[in-house]
Amino acid sequence: MKTTAEIRKSFLDFFHSKGHQIVESSSLVPHNDPTLLFTNAGMNQFKDVFLGMDKRPYSRATTAQRCVRAGGKHNDLENVGYTARHHTFFEMLGNFSFGDYFKQDAIKFGWEFLTSPQWLGLPKEKLWVTVYQSDDEAYDIWHKEVGIPAERIIRIGDNKGAAYASDNFWQMGDTGPCGPCTEIFYDHGDHIWGGPPGSPEEDGDRYIEIWNIVFMQFNRQADGSMEKLPKPSVDTGMGLERISAVLQHVNSNYDIDIFQTLIAKVAALTGEKDLTNKSLRVIADHIRSCAYLIADGVIPSNEGRGYVLRRIIRRAVRHGHLLGAKGSFFYKLVPTLIDVMAEAGKQVKENQVTVERLLKLEEEQFARTLERGLTLLDEALMQVKGNVLSGEVAFKLYDTYGFPLDLTADVCRERNIGVDETGFEREMEAQRQRAQSASQFGADYSNVIRVDGSTEFEGYTESESLAKVTALFHDGKSVESISSGQSAVVILENTPFYGESGGQIGDSGYLAGQDLHFTVNDTQKYGQVFGHIGELVRGSLKVGDNVNAVVDIDRRTKISLNHSATHLLHAALRQVLGEHISQKGSLVGDNILRFDFSQPEAINKQQLMQIEQIVNEQIRANNPVETDIMDLEMAKAKGAMALFGEKYAEKVRVLSMGDFSMELCGGVHVKRTGDIGLFKIISESAIAAGVRRIEAVTGETAINWLQQQQDILQQSADLLKSDVNSLAEKIQQLQDKAKKSEKELNQLKEKAAMQAGSSLVQSAVKINETSVIIKQLDNVESKSLRVIVDDLKNQLGSAVIAFASVVDRKVNLIVGVTTDLTNKVKAGELVNVMAQQVAGKGGGRPDMAMAGGSQPENVTKALSICSEWLHSHL
Ligand code: ALA
Repeated sequence: MKTTAEIRKSFLDFFHSKGHQIVESSSLVPHNDPTLLFTNAGMNQFKDVFLGMDKRPYSRATTAQRCVRAGGKHNDLENVGYTARHHTFFEMLGNFSFGDYFKQDAIKFGWEFLTSPQWLGLPKEKLWVTVYQSDDEAYDIWHKEVGIPAERIIRIGDNKGAAYASDNFWQMGDTGPCGPCTEIFYDHGDHIWGGPPGSPEEDGDRYIEIWNIVFMQFNRQADGSMEKLPKPSVDTGMGLERISAVLQHVNSNYDIDIFQTLIAKVAALTGEKDLTNKSLRVIADHIRSCAYLIADGVIPSNEGRGYVLRRIIRRAVRHGHLLGAKGSFFYKLVPTLIDVMAEAGKQVKENQVTVERLLKLEEEQFARTLERGLTLLDEALMQVKGNVLSGEVAFKLYDTYGFPLDLTADVCRERNIGVDETGFEREMEAQRQRAQSASQFGADYSNVIRVDGSTEFEGYTESESLAKVTALFHDGKSVESISSGQSAVVILENTPFYGESGGQIGDSGYLAGQDLHFTVNDTQKYGQVFGHIGELVRGSLKVGDNVNAVVDIDRRTKISLNHSATHLLHAALRQVLGEHISQKGSLVGDNILRFDFSQPEAINKQQLMQIEQIVNEQIRANNPVETDIMDLEMAKAKGAMALFGEKYAEKVRVLSMGDFSMELCGGVHVKRTGDIGLFKIISESAIAAGVRRIEAVTGETAINWLQQQQDILQQSADLLKSDVNSLAEKIQQLQDKAKKSEKELNQLKEKAAMQAGSSLVQSAVKINETSVIIKQLDNVESKSLRVIVDDLKNQLGSAVIAFASVVDRKVNLIVGVTTDLTNKVKAGELVNVMAQQVAGKGGGRPDMAMAGGSQPENVTKALSICSEWLHSHL
């Protein structure tokens, strides 16, 4: 029986033997593609090749691509654990032809790999196929050339309610490469319920789709029309876990070797005996997506990709809790995962320390609120009337206890209760309104702006250009024109404005024409086009107009200073802390630069100063900043720093500063390092386990910052009537003096209290023959109260003494009883009677007890209750 690792290898070997280049799986974080949350198909990394916008040295490729389908459009998270085939993470085996072979070879390769005894050797009669309704060519190849009988070839039309909306027409998204497809199904046998594709029982588990072969022919346009691709191509996808299930003679993916090994490990870690428990499956699935997402640079957080990761981790931790896991367990699965993934485990292995550390940290954090959240949820579920949990409760769990909505839904589902998601969203929206962090630009355009064509960027050399308006967006919609006062996104054919990317913020400035002025506040990229975001303050603007696009050059200069300094900082960090430093994120703004990087330990003051000094040395060296366009391989060979997982084109832009720094970068930079002027670190902190952040300023901002600091020092020195140089010494002296004064003051207070206390002997009254003192003494600390009570007990010989004192709006109560009276009056009992009046509680010995309280307004009442109580007890 073949292991999953062997099947993966056979697939790649087979296609290699057919002239395909074996290409590494790309990162789960799709770079340069804002339309995609996570990589969800093998073809993602080749999208631009299909579109003819990127060229590779090969025309046939094969991959085992890691994919995540959680969050976003393809979201399987909720179903994981409940079905035999849903996963958050899976591997897609694929072969690709970029204008090379087409339908005939694609079908024949697939058939040979599946049925040849030399490869997988599946029985032919178990295989069924589907083709797109009108695809006679594919039908004939299957029927006449491959020899599949007509009854096992099914035509599927547009069965999803629109043209090209079909199980047999595959498209990556609303726009982009697409085409008809043919799918291969495996019949698991009549002991399992289900019918062939297209039949009413097709959703059963008997006939399972194992391979999808897409004939890429079109580029779907934003308006829905289909433009022909430069060359017909092929994109295929076979779920590795599914084909393993077939070859390992099991129906559920969870019964294949990889999952069985992981499930056994989860069971061992949690002590679960029943290996069919669905929580085991959930955890075995989730460790795969979580480990690979972190290995690909995602960090748990409260938004975007990081939040999807957080949701999956928390769901896994909750299922671990269900199984009775003690302490953190999830991260302990990582070594087993690396093992079972064999060749494909490399990515996690290389990042093992970070993966384990972040998983552990996230689990520990969530463990703190999990228990309390679950108790609250339990109580709420007990009170649910009907079968829906209210949105308010779900929101409270989210807001206070960190329960993602799908986690709450998961718990509810176990008891057949739904969650009022609309109510949850309403609460969420209300909170958003409260936080009112709404951006200057209201509408979210990221899913609306789909413009074909591209904008040419001229900003490396120009700060002003004449440009044609190719599209306009207002109020979330595409429009033909805008008028004065309206905010909009303007798309230009060419532009000197830099669109936010690679950490560098977008440019601002203005677009001008005759009687026309559009203020640009920000520039963003939407796929291949640049959107200029802002407001038309004068005139009107329509598609087709020509405008003069002018970048705010002062701001741009500040940004470029920060960008170049970021490169110097990166290189200096590696020099001082070591080569393990890798960039985790950066923000290059006009006022500040921020650089996040992997570093397990804190950075000490000396190291930080050294880093700052090295960067400034490089600034003074005044090296020219040079850009070269070269082949990616050549750039890597020269040692240029590239971001791991970033998708680069074949030709890359390499930026170097002397022989100190060389990085791949598309941003804008200074001409010589000396232009930066000055580099000053203003903060260093940890933002997640193993990830640190440095913030710094440059140029004029750095000078301003230093002057401000100097100013603060001078003001402080003036206040202390000192000079800046002796400031620390002066502060030390003042602190010593304050401490001494405080001590003296306390001694005096005590003395005064004692004196006041001794004189209280006269205020003793008799209750039923016994001497009693009941009094309010303000501003006496509880320590002094004790001393006074002891002193009075001695002086009076036989007495009950009760004091209340208010210090800083807090009530102190004390009761002292001489031992001859403790059979009648227990100090602890009496003090508690008094404490009840001031919302407090206390206790102590029968002869001395104290209590605190929080309602000073009720002190008088406490004292009169004391007197009443003594009347009845003495
Ligand atoms: N891209 C195709 C799919 O994901 C093969 O099914």
